[in-house]
Amino acid sequence: MIKVLVSGALGHMGRIVAELAAADAALELIGGVDLKEGEVQGAPVYSSFADVCEKADVVIDFSSAANLTNVLAYAEKTGCAVILAATGYTEDDLSKIAEAAKKIAPFKTANLSVGINLLQKLVREAAKFLGSGFDAEIVERHHNLKKDAPSGTALMLAESAKEGFGGDKRFVCGREGMVGARDKREIGIHAVRGGTIVGEHEVMFAGEDEIVTLSHSARSKRVFAAGAIAAAKFIAGKPAGKYDMQDVIG
Ligand SMILES: NC(=O)c1ccc[n+]([C@@H]2O[C@H](COP(=O)([O-])OP(=O)(O)OC[C@H]3O[C@@H](n4cnc5c(N)ncnc54)[C@H](O)[C@@H]3O)[C@@H](O)[C@H]2O)c1
Repeated sequence: MIKVLVSGALGHMGRIVAELAAADAALELIGGVDLKEGEVQGAPVYSSFADVCEKADVVIDFSSAANLTNVLAYAEKTGCAVILAATGYTEDDLSKIAEAAKKIAPFKTANLSVGINLLQKLVREAAKFLGSGFDAEIVERHHNLKKDAPSGTALMLAESAKEGFGGDKRFVCGREGMVGARDKREIGIHAVRGGTIVGEHEVMFAGEDEIVTLSHSARSKRVFAAGAIAAAKFIAGKPAGKYDMQDVIG
């Protein structure tokens, strides 16, 4: 049995992940860590990693990018693998993750749904196929509680489009005022927030008299939680190194 500790266990995502982990015969939910007090699926929720009594094989982190240092420190101390599912990491955070990957197995993805990971591949292919005659613009829509913008997934899709186009692109997040004609090197990214939208991403390639649109819509947060469970099973016992969702579905 793979022993799982859920970081951010009392949040929206953490609770669903804990529910799925508790119901999965291959996993044992040993508890959670959260700033809030409570318990999850009958397991203890600790206020810090220092209080966790049992050793986990995998930490699934759905807390916050701001908690990265604590999560990595715990994983390095105990040698467990870690699913970094929070979004909003800075360049400095990404360097810390790369450094940690020399000793442990961090699994990082801005989106744990299988569909989005397919979309990533399709966007790369589309950009390669359509080429410089097409302008790529990304629109993402999320619920009104989301803290970071644009979404980590939108940035991931923008990177895929950039790769497909062969580089030489820059990301422009939103436009306002007299911005002038669109520069061919731009990939526009636009964030819409409202209500309870789980997560929608649309990548538009606009060319001369034709438009190709690729999109994905998540209808429930359970798709991300299910992806986290699949990732936990994949990463348990893996050697040190950086992993992502493409390794799981690839
Ligand atoms: N990778 C994906 O597929 C995916 C999918 C959905 C959400 N997310 C990301 O997951 C994160 C959580 O989303 P959510 O909707 O569950 O948010 P949420 O606010 O409902 O839950 C976050 C939980 O983490 C706890 N927390 C925050 N900082 C902490 C800290 N330093 N130590 C311990 N606990 C801490 C909070 O108390 C809260 O209970 C966000 O960054 C979100 O963007 C990623």
